[in-house]
Amino acid sequence: MLNIALFGPPGAGKGTQSKLLIEKYNLTYISTGDILREEIANNTPLGKAAKGIIEKGGLVSDDLIVQIIEKRVTMNLNTSGILFDGFPRTVVQAYILEGLLSKMNTSLTCMLSLEVPQDQLVSRMLERAKVGGRSDDNMEVIKVRMQEYEDKTKPVIDFYQEKNKYFPVNGIGTIESIFSTLVDAIEGTMKQDFFNIVLLGKPGSGKGTQGELLARNNNLVYISTGKLLRKEIANDTEIGHIAKPYMDRGEIVPDEIAIRLIEKKIQQHPSADGFVFKGFPRTVVQAYILDGLLRRVNSRITCMLNIKLPTLDSIKRLNDRSKTERRRPYDTSTDLILNRLDEYEKKTKPVIEYYKKQTIFFEVDGRGDEEEVNERLEEAIVKTVQQLRG
Ligand code: AP5
Ligand code: MG
Repeated sequence: MLNIALFGPPGAGKGTQSKLLIEKYNLTYISTGDILREEIANNTPLGKAAKGIIEKGGLVSDDLIVQIIEKRVTMNLNTSGILFDGFPRTVVQAYILEGLLSKMNTSLTCMLSLEVPQDQLVSRMLERAKVGGRSDDNMEVIKVRMQEYEDKTKPVIDFYQEKNKYFPVNGIGTIESIFSTLVDAIEGTMKQDFFNIVLLGKPGSGKGTQGELLARNNNLVYISTGKLLRKEIANDTEIGHIAKPYMDRGEIVPDEIAIRLIEKKIQQHPSADGFVFKGFPRTVVQAYILDGLLRRVNSRITCMLNIKLPTLDSIKRLNDRSKTERRRPYDTSTDLILNRLDEYEKKTKPVIEYYKKQTIFFEVDGRGDEEEVNERLEEAIVKTVQQLRG
């Protein structure tokens, strides 16, 4: 199902754009404002309870809204999707929506927010007042509605931002141009069937080995900043020159460099099913950067897999590798190995906390042979897909 919440302050154009959206995507339309006005017109008990509040510009109680919403949602179980206009308008309502949709085995696809400066909003509503308009379209009530929006409705933004479902859209311009921006945003979120994995774990935990396997088995593109950097060094490029001393010391290379490499790699694979990121992000700043890079291609991190391995095993593996041809310059001394483990503790562990809050997160036991670990990781991917289908 395509479930959209159209968000924005009073007068932002939610109602106007809704008409176009429901037609294009064949959605069921639920506007709490329209329903309340209908109840008032029909003088129902619900209408009577809401009338005084709406006329003053206040928000109707969450209790009344639940009654309306629940009825409409359950009346439309077979729809291809729902467009919510003017709902959720409080954080409580956001929780209610989550609950209702999860009962239907679905979830909100995105919240699109129409952004319009205050002076424009007011003039639009006063204009509407002249042509028939609504009883709440007068300056005194508009002020209250705006204030209610600031106090109670705006916090809903954070709720969906944390879920990566909040998309602000410029609400100024012609109705057609705004509509096309909304459509782009929707197509973008739908295209997000992109499956992007962040693979984390301390040095020696097997990220490289497993990352390549995961990419191969799931038709994803493997992006290892370490590998990309080694290639630059081998090719004696400008980037290689800058990166080499950092890598030799077992340190994290400057962000600009990793960004350039990742961006290039993403651009080279516009039709990929998704990416496996290994060795990046290594710091919380890099996590923000990666979010930004993916946002530019309308995508985001789908899940984080953290390979857990006891420190001793990890030292042993790195030490073993140092005796093979696959050895890295930073495997060769205990000092360097310890330095990398230390960098991981200090800088990379916070990345795990960062992703825990906003993506699907699995911790996977990294002990055992390649196949065993791979099986555990694939299992986590299957579970992620199940969760996404909600
Ligand atoms: P509701 O009916 O939802 O009103 P609102 O949020 O105040 O928003 P409006 O309907 O006024 O604006 P809109 O964004 O739909 O803009 P529109 O397309 O009309 O809610 C009314 C009341 O009900 C609330 O105050 C509350 O009391 C209660 N309520 C509703 N839901 C609730 C909930 N969930 N919880 C609690 N209480 C709830 O456009 C505005 C004007 O601008 C129009 O005249 C339009 O023609 C014009 N316009 C549109 N687009 C453009 C453009 N691009 N350029 C120029 N003009 C434009
Ligand atoms: Mg409206």
